[in-house]
Amino acid sequence: QTTQPFDMVIFGGTGDLAMRKLLPALYHRHRDGQLAEDGRIICLARDELSREEFLERVRVRLHEYVQAHYVSSEQWEQYARRLDYLRLDAMQIEDFARLAGFLGDDPERVRVFYLSTGPNLFSAICKGLGTGGLVTPGARVVLEKPLGTDLESARRINAEVGAVFEEHQIYRIDHYLGKETVQNLMALRFGNSIVEPLWRRTWVSHVQITVAETLGVGSRGGFYDKAGAMRDMVQNHLLQLLCIVAMEPPASTDPDAIRDEKLKILRSLRPLCGAEVARHSVRGQYRAGAVGGEPVKGYLQEDGIDPDSLTETFVALRAEITNWRWAGTPFYLRTGKRLQESIAEIVLYFRDLPMTLFPSASHEPNRLVIRLQPDEGLRLALLAKQPGDEMRLRPVQLNLAFAETFKARRIEAYERLLTDVIHGRLTLFMRRDELEAAWIWVEPILKAWEASGELPKSYTAGTWGPAASTALISRDGFAWHEEI
Ligand code: BG6
Repeated sequence: QTTQPFDMVIFGGTGDLAMRKLLPALYHRHRDGQLAEDGRIICLARDELSREEFLERVRVRLHEYVQAHYVSSEQWEQYARRLDYLRLDAMQIEDFARLAGFLGDDPERVRVFYLSTGPNLFSAICKGLGTGGLVTPGARVVLEKPLGTDLESARRINAEVGAVFEEHQIYRIDHYLGKETVQNLMALRFGNSIVEPLWRRTWVSHVQITVAETLGVGSRGGFYDKAGAMRDMVQNHLLQLLCIVAMEPPASTDPDAIRDEKLKILRSLRPLCGAEVARHSVRGQYRAGAVGGEPVKGYLQEDGIDPDSLTETFVALRAEITNWRWAGTPFYLRTGKRLQESIAEIVLYFRDLPMTLFPSASHEPNRLVIRLQPDEGLRLALLAKQPGDEMRLRPVQLNLAFAETFKARRIEAYERLLTDVIHGRLTLFMRRDELEAAWIWVEPILKAWEASGELPKSYTAGTWGPAASTALISRDGFAWHEEI
Protein backbone atom coordinates (compact mmCIF):
# COMPACT_ATOMS: atom_id res chain seq x y z
CA GLN A 1 0.00 0.00 0.00
CA THR A 2 1.44 3.36 -1.04
CA THR A 3 1.36 6.20 1.45
CA GLN A 4 -0.32 9.56 1.04
CA PRO A 5 1.95 12.45 0.06
CA PHE A 6 4.01 13.30 3.12
CA ASP A 7 6.79 15.41 4.59
CA MET A 8 8.94 13.42 7.00
CA VAL A 9 10.93 15.95 9.00
CA ILE A 10 13.76 14.36 10.98
CA PHE A 11 15.26 16.36 13.84
CA GLY A 12 18.75 14.98 14.54
CA GLY A 13 18.88 14.27 10.83
CA THR A 14 22.64 13.79 10.65
CA GLY A 15 22.75 11.63 13.80
CA ASP A 16 23.55 7.98 14.19
CA LEU A 17 19.96 6.72 14.27
CA ALA A 18 18.97 8.68 11.17
CA MET A 19 21.96 7.41 9.20
CA ARG A 20 21.97 3.85 10.51
CA LYS A 21 18.25 3.08 10.69
CA LEU A 22 15.79 5.75 9.52
CA LEU A 23 17.20 6.71 6.13
CA PRO A 24 18.01 3.09 5.16
CA ALA A 25 14.50 2.03 6.25
CA LEU A 26 12.91 4.78 4.16
CA TYR A 27 15.17 3.80 1.27
CA HIS A 28 13.81 0.24 1.35
CA ARG A 29 10.26 1.52 1.44
CA HIS A 30 11.04 3.82 -1.50
CA ARG A 31 12.58 0.93 -3.42
CA ASP A 32 9.57 -1.28 -2.71
CA GLY A 33 7.30 1.43 -4.14
CA GLN A 34 5.57 2.09 -0.83
CA LEU A 35 6.19 5.81 -0.58
CA ALA A 36 4.05 8.38 -2.36
CA GLU A 37 5.80 9.68 -5.45
CA ASP A 38 6.13 13.18 -3.98
CA GLY A 39 6.85 12.17 -0.38
CA ARG A 40 9.72 14.28 0.97
CA ILE A 41 12.28 13.55 3.67
CA ILE A 42 13.75 16.64 5.27
CA CYS A 43 16.65 16.18 7.66
CA LEU A 44 17.44 18.90 10.16
CA ALA A 45 20.53 19.51 12.25
CA ARG A 46 22.70 22.38 13.41
CA ASP A 47 25.60 21.61 11.08
CA GLU A 48 26.36 24.00 8.21
CA LEU A 49 25.95 21.58 5.34
CA SER A 50 24.96 22.06 1.74
CA ARG A 51 22.37 19.70 0.32
CA GLU A 52 25.12 18.09 -1.77
CA GLU A 53 27.36 17.51 1.23
CA PHE A 54 24.46 16.01 3.13
CA LEU A 55 23.49 13.71 0.26
CA GLU A 56 27.06 12.51 0.01
CA ARG A 57 27.02 11.59 3.71
CA VAL A 58 23.76 9.68 3.28
CA ARG A 59 25.02 7.91 0.17
CA VAL A 60 28.15 6.67 1.95
CA ARG A 61 26.22 5.49 5.01
CA LEU A 62 23.52 3.85 2.91
CA HIS A 63 26.13 1.65 1.30
CA GLU A 64 27.21 0.66 4.79
CA TYR A 65 23.75 -0.23 6.08
CA VAL A 66 21.88 -1.54 3.06
CA GLN A 67 23.02 -4.73 1.36
CA ALA A 68 24.83 -3.96 -1.87
CA HIS A 69 22.37 -5.79 -4.12
CA TYR A 70 19.58 -3.49 -2.99
CA VAL A 71 21.37 -0.27 -3.99
CA SER A 72 21.84 0.75 -7.61
CA SER A 73 22.94 4.21 -8.65
CA GLU A 74 19.62 4.74 -10.43
CA GLN A 75 17.61 3.91 -7.31
CA TRP A 76 19.87 6.03 -5.18
CA GLU A 77 19.40 9.00 -7.49
CA GLN A 78 15.63 8.65 -7.37
CA TYR A 79 15.69 8.35 -3.58
CA ALA A 80 18.03 11.33 -3.27
CA ARG A 81 15.43 13.49 -5.03
CA ARG A 82 13.21 13.08 -1.98
CA LEU A 83 15.93 14.17 0.43
CA ASP A 84 16.66 17.65 1.66
CA TYR A 85 18.73 19.18 4.38
CA LEU A 86 17.94 22.26 6.43
CA ARG A 87 20.03 23.84 9.15
CA LEU A 88 17.96 24.32 12.27
CA ASP A 89 18.80 25.25 15.83
CA ALA A 90 15.95 24.17 18.12
CA MET A 91 16.63 27.18 20.35
CA GLN A 92 16.11 29.72 17.53
CA ILE A 93 12.47 30.40 16.91
CA GLU A 94 13.18 32.05 13.55
CA ASP A 95 14.57 28.72 12.32
CA PHE A 96 11.11 27.22 12.75
CA ALA A 97 9.63 30.01 10.64
CA ARG A 98 12.12 29.05 7.92
CA LEU A 99 11.03 25.42 8.23
CA ALA A 100 7.37 26.46 7.97
CA GLY A 101 8.17 28.37 4.78
CA PHE A 102 9.94 25.34 3.38
CA LEU A 103 7.07 22.96 4.14
CA GLY A 104 4.37 25.22 2.72
CA ASP A 105 0.72 24.79 3.61
CA ASP A 106 -0.69 21.98 1.50
CA PRO A 107 -3.34 20.43 3.80
CA GLU A 108 -3.25 17.16 1.82
CA ARG A 109 0.29 16.37 2.88
CA VAL A 110 0.84 14.29 6.01
CA ARG A 111 3.38 16.01 8.20
CA VAL A 112 5.59 13.89 10.44
CA PHE A 113 8.09 15.34 12.89
CA TYR A 114 10.53 12.66 13.95
CA LEU A 115 12.44 13.67 17.08
CA SER A 116 15.61 11.66 16.82
CA THR A 117 17.44 13.87 19.31
CA GLY A 118 18.14 13.65 23.04
CA PRO A 119 14.95 14.03 25.12
CA ASN A 120 16.37 17.28 26.54
CA LEU A 121 15.45 18.92 23.22
CA PHE A 122 11.90 17.52 22.93
CA SER A 123 10.34 20.39 24.80
CA ALA A 124 12.14 23.14 22.86
CA ILE A 125 11.35 21.47 19.54
CA CYS A 126 7.67 21.03 20.36
CA LYS A 127 7.44 24.64 21.53
CA GLY A 128 9.12 25.81 18.34
CA LEU A 129 6.73 23.73 16.24
CA GLY A 130 3.76 25.09 18.18
CA THR A 131 4.70 28.76 18.07
CA GLY A 132 5.94 28.46 14.50
CA GLY A 133 2.41 27.33 13.50
CA LEU A 134 3.72 24.04 12.13
CA VAL A 135 1.34 21.75 14.00
CA THR A 136 -1.44 21.21 11.49
CA PRO A 137 -4.37 18.97 12.54
CA GLY A 138 -2.88 16.12 10.51
CA ALA A 139 0.64 16.54 11.93
CA ARG A 140 2.29 13.71 13.87
CA VAL A 141 5.25 13.62 16.17
CA VAL A 142 7.47 10.59 16.72
CA LEU A 143 9.43 10.37 19.95
CA GLU A 144 12.51 8.21 20.18
CA LYS A 145 13.50 6.60 23.45
CA PRO A 146 14.71 7.20 26.09
CA LEU A 147 11.55 8.99 27.15
CA GLY A 148 12.89 10.26 30.43
CA THR A 149 15.13 8.72 33.02
CA ASP A 150 12.46 8.16 35.66
CA LEU A 151 8.73 8.61 36.20
CA GLU A 152 8.96 12.31 36.90
CA SER A 153 10.99 13.15 33.81
CA ALA A 154 8.78 10.91 31.65
CA ARG A 155 5.71 12.74 32.96
CA ARG A 156 7.34 16.08 32.27
CA ILE A 157 8.19 15.13 28.69
CA ASN A 158 4.68 13.78 28.15
CA ALA A 159 3.18 16.98 29.50
CA GLU A 160 5.42 19.24 27.41
CA VAL A 161 4.77 17.32 24.21
CA GLY A 162 1.10 17.03 25.18
CA ALA A 163 0.84 20.83 25.40
CA VAL A 164 1.45 21.03 21.65
CA PHE A 165 0.24 17.70 20.21
CA GLU A 166 -2.92 15.72 20.98
CA GLU A 167 -2.31 12.16 22.26
CA HIS A 168 -3.52 10.67 18.93
CA GLN A 169 -0.78 12.67 17.18
CA ILE A 170 2.02 11.27 19.39
CA TYR A 171 3.93 8.15 18.28
CA ARG A 172 6.25 6.89 21.05
CA ILE A 173 8.48 4.45 19.29
CA ASP A 174 9.72 1.14 20.67
CA HIS A 175 11.29 -0.55 17.70
CA TYR A 176 10.89 -4.00 19.26
CA LEU A 177 7.16 -3.74 18.56
CA GLY A 178 7.95 -3.42 14.85
CA LYS A 179 9.96 -6.65 14.70
CA GLU A 180 8.50 -9.31 12.48
CA THR A 181 8.48 -12.03 15.15
CA VAL A 182 6.71 -9.81 17.64
CA GLN A 183 3.97 -9.38 15.05
CA ASN A 184 4.02 -13.12 14.55
CA LEU A 185 3.55 -13.67 18.24
CA MET A 186 0.24 -11.84 17.94
CA ALA A 187 -0.63 -14.05 14.97
CA LEU A 188 0.29 -17.18 16.90
CA ARG A 189 -1.73 -16.19 19.94
CA PHE A 190 -4.79 -14.66 18.37
CA GLY A 191 -4.91 -16.26 14.92
CA ASN A 192 -4.83 -19.88 16.08
CA SER A 193 -7.13 -21.75 18.40
CA ILE A 194 -4.79 -24.40 19.76
CA VAL A 195 -2.43 -22.21 21.72
CA GLU A 196 -4.92 -20.15 23.71
CA PRO A 197 -6.02 -22.89 26.16
CA LEU A 198 -2.38 -23.65 26.98
CA TRP A 199 -1.33 -20.02 27.34
CA ARG A 200 -1.83 -19.66 31.09
CA ARG A 201 -0.66 -20.53 34.58
CA THR A 202 -2.28 -23.96 34.51
CA TRP A 203 0.08 -25.18 31.79
CA VAL A 204 3.01 -22.77 31.72
CA SER A 205 5.47 -23.16 34.60
CA HIS A 206 7.45 -20.04 33.73
CA VAL A 207 8.40 -17.69 30.91
CA GLN A 208 11.85 -16.40 30.00
CA ILE A 209 12.53 -13.30 27.96
CA THR A 210 16.14 -12.79 26.91
CA VAL A 211 17.65 -10.03 24.79
CA ALA A 212 21.37 -10.72 24.76
CA GLU A 213 23.93 -8.77 22.75
CA THR A 214 27.57 -9.52 22.04
CA LEU A 215 28.16 -5.83 21.32
CA GLY A 216 29.57 -3.51 23.95
CA VAL A 217 28.58 0.13 24.34
CA GLY A 218 30.54 1.10 21.24
CA SER A 219 30.59 4.82 20.59
CA ARG A 220 27.52 5.47 22.78
CA GLY A 221 29.40 5.52 26.09
CA GLY A 222 28.30 9.05 27.00
CA PHE A 223 24.63 8.17 26.67
CA TYR A 224 24.82 4.64 28.00
CA ASP A 225 26.70 5.45 31.17
CA LYS A 226 23.82 7.67 32.28
CA ALA A 227 21.18 5.12 31.25
CA GLY A 228 22.31 1.53 31.90
CA ALA A 229 20.58 -1.66 30.81
CA MET A 230 17.47 -1.11 32.91
CA ARG A 231 16.60 2.22 31.28
CA ASP A 232 18.00 1.33 27.86
CA MET A 233 16.35 -2.09 27.44
CA VAL A 234 14.14 -3.32 30.28
CA GLN A 235 11.88 -0.30 30.80
CA ASN A 236 10.90 -0.39 27.15
CA HIS A 237 11.82 -3.37 24.95
CA LEU A 238 11.64 -6.19 27.50
CA LEU A 239 8.48 -4.92 29.18
CA GLN A 240 6.81 -4.47 25.81
CA LEU A 241 7.67 -8.06 24.89
CA LEU A 242 6.29 -9.18 28.24
CA CYS A 243 3.05 -7.32 27.52
CA ILE A 244 2.61 -8.98 24.14
CA VAL A 245 3.23 -12.44 25.61
CA ALA A 246 1.00 -11.95 28.61
CA MET A 247 -1.88 -9.74 27.46
CA GLU A 248 -5.47 -10.92 27.17
CA PRO A 249 -6.98 -11.22 23.68
CA PRO A 250 -8.00 -7.66 22.72
CA ALA A 251 -11.58 -6.93 21.70
CA SER A 252 -10.42 -5.79 18.25
CA THR A 253 -7.30 -4.69 16.43
CA ASP A 254 -8.12 -1.10 17.22
CA PRO A 255 -4.94 0.57 18.59
CA ASP A 256 -6.53 1.42 21.90
CA ALA A 257 -8.06 -2.03 22.33
CA ILE A 258 -4.56 -3.50 22.12
CA ARG A 259 -2.91 -0.81 24.18
CA ASP A 260 -5.56 -1.14 26.91
CA GLU A 261 -4.66 -4.82 27.28
CA LYS A 262 -0.94 -4.09 27.42
CA LEU A 263 -1.55 -1.44 30.05
CA LYS A 264 -3.46 -3.94 32.19
CA ILE A 265 -0.39 -6.20 32.21
CA LEU A 266 1.93 -3.38 33.24
CA ARG A 267 -0.46 -2.49 36.02
CA SER A 268 -0.63 -6.13 37.15
CA LEU A 269 3.13 -6.42 37.63
CA ARG A 270 3.72 -7.02 41.30
CA PRO A 271 5.88 -4.15 42.56
CA LEU A 272 9.33 -5.12 43.77
CA CYS A 273 10.40 -3.12 46.78
CA GLY A 274 12.84 -3.15 49.64
CA ALA A 275 14.57 -6.46 50.30
CA GLU A 276 12.70 -8.12 47.43
CA VAL A 277 14.72 -6.14 44.93
CA ALA A 278 17.95 -7.78 46.08
CA ARG A 279 16.29 -11.20 45.94
CA HIS A 280 14.58 -10.87 42.58
CA SER A 281 17.03 -8.80 40.56
CA VAL A 282 20.65 -8.94 39.48
CA ARG A 283 22.67 -6.13 37.96
CA GLY A 284 25.98 -6.80 36.34
CA GLN A 285 28.81 -4.98 34.58
CA TYR A 286 31.21 -6.58 32.13
CA ARG A 287 34.92 -6.73 32.62
CA ALA A 288 37.50 -7.49 29.92
CA GLY A 289 37.08 -10.84 28.21
CA ALA A 290 36.70 -12.27 24.74
CA VAL A 291 33.77 -12.27 22.36
CA GLY A 292 33.87 -14.63 19.40
CA GLY A 293 37.54 -15.33 20.12
CA GLU A 294 38.50 -11.62 20.03
CA PRO A 295 39.71 -9.92 23.22
CA VAL A 296 37.49 -7.00 24.28
CA LYS A 297 37.82 -4.22 26.87
CA GLY A 298 35.93 -4.06 30.11
CA TYR A 299 33.07 -1.55 30.47
CA LEU A 300 35.11 0.77 32.68
CA GLN A 301 37.80 1.02 30.01
CA GLU A 302 35.38 1.92 27.20
CA ASP A 303 35.39 5.44 25.72
CA GLY A 304 33.13 7.93 27.44
CA ILE A 305 32.67 5.81 30.58
CA ASP A 306 33.43 7.07 34.06
CA PRO A 307 36.19 4.72 35.34
CA ASP A 308 34.29 4.41 38.65
CA SER A 309 30.92 3.93 36.98
CA LEU A 310 28.30 1.82 38.77
CA THR A 311 26.14 1.61 35.64
CA GLU A 312 24.77 -1.84 34.89
CA THR A 313 25.33 -3.48 31.52
CA PHE A 314 23.34 -6.57 32.51
CA VAL A 315 20.02 -7.05 34.27
CA ALA A 316 18.16 -10.19 35.27
CA LEU A 317 14.78 -9.95 36.99
CA ARG A 318 12.05 -12.19 38.29
CA ALA A 319 8.70 -10.57 37.63
CA GLU A 320 5.22 -11.68 38.61
CA ILE A 321 1.96 -10.79 36.94
CA THR A 322 -0.79 -10.94 39.48
CA ASN A 323 -3.82 -11.61 37.34
CA TRP A 324 -6.03 -14.65 36.82
CA ARG A 325 -4.11 -15.90 33.81
CA TRP A 326 -0.59 -15.65 35.22
CA ALA A 327 -0.52 -15.60 39.03
CA GLY A 328 2.07 -18.16 40.14
CA THR A 329 3.92 -18.28 36.78
CA PRO A 330 7.13 -16.24 37.10
CA PHE A 331 8.46 -14.24 34.16
CA TYR A 332 12.25 -14.01 34.08
CA LEU A 333 13.74 -11.14 32.12
CA ARG A 334 17.38 -10.93 31.13
CA THR A 335 19.37 -8.54 28.98
CA GLY A 336 22.98 -7.51 28.68
CA LYS A 337 25.83 -6.26 26.57
CA ARG A 338 28.94 -8.31 25.78
CA LEU A 339 27.21 -11.62 26.40
CA GLN A 340 28.12 -14.88 24.77
CA GLU A 341 25.64 -14.72 21.89
CA SER A 342 23.40 -12.14 20.24
CA ILE A 343 19.98 -13.59 20.77
CA ALA A 344 16.50 -12.30 21.45
CA GLU A 345 13.93 -14.88 22.39
CA ILE A 346 10.91 -15.63 24.48
CA VAL A 347 10.58 -19.13 25.91
CA LEU A 348 7.47 -20.61 27.47
CA TYR A 349 8.19 -23.66 29.60
CA PHE A 350 5.27 -26.00 30.05
CA ARG A 351 4.65 -27.88 33.27
CA ASP A 352 6.03 -31.34 33.87
CA LEU A 353 4.05 -34.50 33.30
CA PRO A 354 2.18 -35.72 36.34
CA MET A 355 4.08 -39.03 35.99
CA THR A 356 6.31 -40.72 33.42
CA LEU A 357 5.36 -43.84 31.52
CA PHE A 358 8.37 -44.14 29.27
CA PRO A 359 12.09 -44.25 29.84
CA SER A 360 13.63 -41.24 28.23
CA ALA A 361 17.03 -39.81 27.55
CA SER A 362 15.96 -36.64 29.29
CA HIS A 363 12.95 -35.35 31.15
CA GLU A 364 13.10 -31.92 29.65
CA PRO A 365 9.80 -30.09 29.86
CA ASN A 366 8.06 -29.12 26.64
CA ARG A 367 8.87 -25.59 25.64
CA LEU A 368 7.98 -23.11 22.97
CA VAL A 369 10.83 -20.92 21.80
CA ILE A 370 9.90 -17.74 19.98
CA ARG A 371 13.10 -16.47 18.40
CA LEU A 372 13.14 -12.79 17.43
CA GLN A 373 16.73 -12.76 16.23
CA PRO A 374 19.00 -13.82 14.67
CA ASP A 375 17.14 -16.74 12.99
CA GLU A 376 13.50 -15.80 13.42
CA GLY A 377 11.07 -18.58 14.06
CA LEU A 378 9.10 -20.75 16.39
CA ARG A 379 10.35 -24.02 17.83
CA LEU A 380 8.38 -26.42 19.93
CA ALA A 381 10.51 -28.83 21.93
CA LEU A 382 8.81 -32.20 22.41
CA LEU A 383 9.84 -35.72 23.28
CA ALA A 384 9.47 -38.33 20.53
CA LYS A 385 10.19 -42.01 20.27
CA GLN A 386 13.66 -42.85 19.13
CA PRO A 387 13.58 -45.34 16.21
CA GLY A 388 14.21 -48.91 17.35
CA ASP A 389 12.62 -51.71 19.25
CA GLU A 390 12.63 -50.00 22.57
CA MET A 391 10.14 -47.35 23.62
CA ARG A 392 12.77 -44.77 24.39
CA LEU A 393 12.03 -41.06 24.09
CA ARG A 394 14.34 -38.26 23.15
CA PRO A 395 13.98 -34.49 22.67
CA VAL A 396 13.06 -33.30 19.17
CA GLN A 397 11.87 -30.01 17.74
CA LEU A 398 9.04 -28.86 15.55
CA ASN A 399 10.74 -26.03 13.79
CA LEU A 400 9.17 -23.14 11.89
CA ALA A 401 11.96 -21.04 10.40
CA PHE A 402 10.36 -17.92 8.96
CA ALA A 403 13.14 -17.36 6.42
CA GLU A 404 12.49 -20.77 4.87
CA THR A 405 8.70 -20.68 5.04
CA PHE A 406 8.34 -17.15 3.76
CA LYS A 407 10.94 -16.30 1.14
CA ALA A 408 10.14 -12.59 1.03
CA ARG A 409 12.67 -10.04 2.26
CA ARG A 410 12.42 -9.52 5.99
CA ILE A 411 11.14 -6.05 6.74
CA GLU A 412 13.14 -4.15 9.35
CA ALA A 413 11.27 -2.83 12.37
CA TYR A 414 11.87 0.81 11.39
CA GLU A 415 10.48 0.26 7.90
CA ARG A 416 7.16 -0.87 9.27
CA LEU A 417 7.03 1.74 12.00
CA LEU A 418 7.89 4.69 9.75
CA THR A 419 5.17 3.84 7.25
CA ASP A 420 2.75 3.15 10.10
CA VAL A 421 3.28 6.74 11.22
CA ILE A 422 2.58 8.08 7.73
CA HIS A 423 -0.53 5.88 7.48
CA GLY A 424 -1.62 7.06 10.95
CA ARG A 425 -1.56 3.60 12.56
CA LEU A 426 -0.95 3.90 16.28
CA THR A 427 -1.10 0.25 17.37
CA LEU A 428 2.64 -0.35 17.56
CA PHE A 429 3.38 2.82 19.49
CA MET A 430 3.25 3.28 23.24
CA ARG A 431 0.52 5.34 24.78
CA ARG A 432 1.31 7.83 27.52
CA ASP A 433 -0.25 5.74 30.29
CA GLU A 434 1.69 2.63 29.19
CA LEU A 435 4.98 4.47 29.32
CA GLU A 436 4.22 5.84 32.75
CA ALA A 437 3.06 2.44 34.05
CA ALA A 438 6.36 0.92 32.91
CA TRP A 439 8.27 3.57 34.84
CA ILE A 440 6.10 3.00 37.92
CA TRP A 441 7.31 -0.62 38.02
CA VAL A 442 10.93 0.05 37.11
CA GLU A 443 11.67 3.08 39.25
CA PRO A 444 11.58 1.44 42.71
CA ILE A 445 14.07 -1.16 41.47
CA LEU A 446 16.46 1.53 40.29
CA LYS A 447 16.03 3.38 43.57
CA ALA A 448 16.67 0.28 45.66
CA TRP A 449 19.85 -0.43 43.69
CA GLU A 450 21.02 3.10 44.24
CA ALA A 451 20.18 3.06 47.94
CA SER A 452 21.98 -0.25 48.48
CA GLY A 453 25.30 1.30 47.43
CA GLU A 454 26.30 -2.14 46.15
CA LEU A 455 28.53 -2.51 43.14
CA PRO A 456 27.07 -4.23 40.10
CA LYS A 457 28.22 -7.86 39.90
CA SER A 458 31.16 -8.20 37.58
CA TYR A 459 31.03 -10.69 34.69
CA THR A 460 33.56 -11.58 32.05
CA ALA A 461 32.73 -10.25 28.59
CA GLY A 462 31.66 -13.14 26.36
CA THR A 463 29.84 -15.11 29.08
CA TRP A 464 26.15 -15.26 30.00
CA GLY A 465 26.49 -12.66 32.78
CA PRO A 466 27.13 -12.87 36.51
CA ALA A 467 26.71 -16.15 38.41
CA ALA A 468 24.00 -14.47 40.49
CA SER A 469 21.78 -14.53 37.40
CA THR A 470 21.93 -18.35 37.35
CA ALA A 471 21.20 -18.36 41.07
CA LEU A 472 18.16 -16.07 40.58
CA ILE A 473 16.40 -18.58 38.37
CA SER A 474 17.74 -21.80 39.89
CA ARG A 475 16.25 -20.84 43.26
CA ASP A 476 12.90 -21.66 41.69
CA GLY A 477 14.22 -24.91 40.24
CA PHE A 478 14.65 -23.59 36.67
CA ALA A 479 17.59 -22.77 34.38
CA TRP A 480 18.13 -20.18 31.66
CA HIS A 481 17.50 -21.36 28.13
CA GLU A 482 20.94 -21.29 26.55
CA GLU A 483 20.58 -23.58 23.60
CA ILE A 484 21.64 -21.97 20.34
C1 BG6 B 1 18.30 0.07 21.45
C2 BG6 B 1 19.27 0.22 22.58
O1 BG6 B 1 17.06 0.59 21.79
O2 BG6 B 1 18.17 -1.29 21.12
C3 BG6 B 1 20.61 -0.39 22.22
O3 BG6 B 1 19.43 1.60 22.90
C4 BG6 B 1 20.43 -1.81 21.76
O4 BG6 B 1 21.50 -0.35 23.33
C5 BG6 B 1 19.36 -1.91 20.68
O5 BG6 B 1 21.67 -2.27 21.24
C6 BG6 B 1 19.04 -3.34 20.35
O6 BG6 B 1 18.19 -3.37 19.24
P1 BG6 B 1 18.24 -4.56 18.17
O7 BG6 B 1 17.11 -4.28 17.25
O8 BG6 B 1 19.58 -4.52 17.55
O9 BG6 B 1 18.03 -5.82 19.00
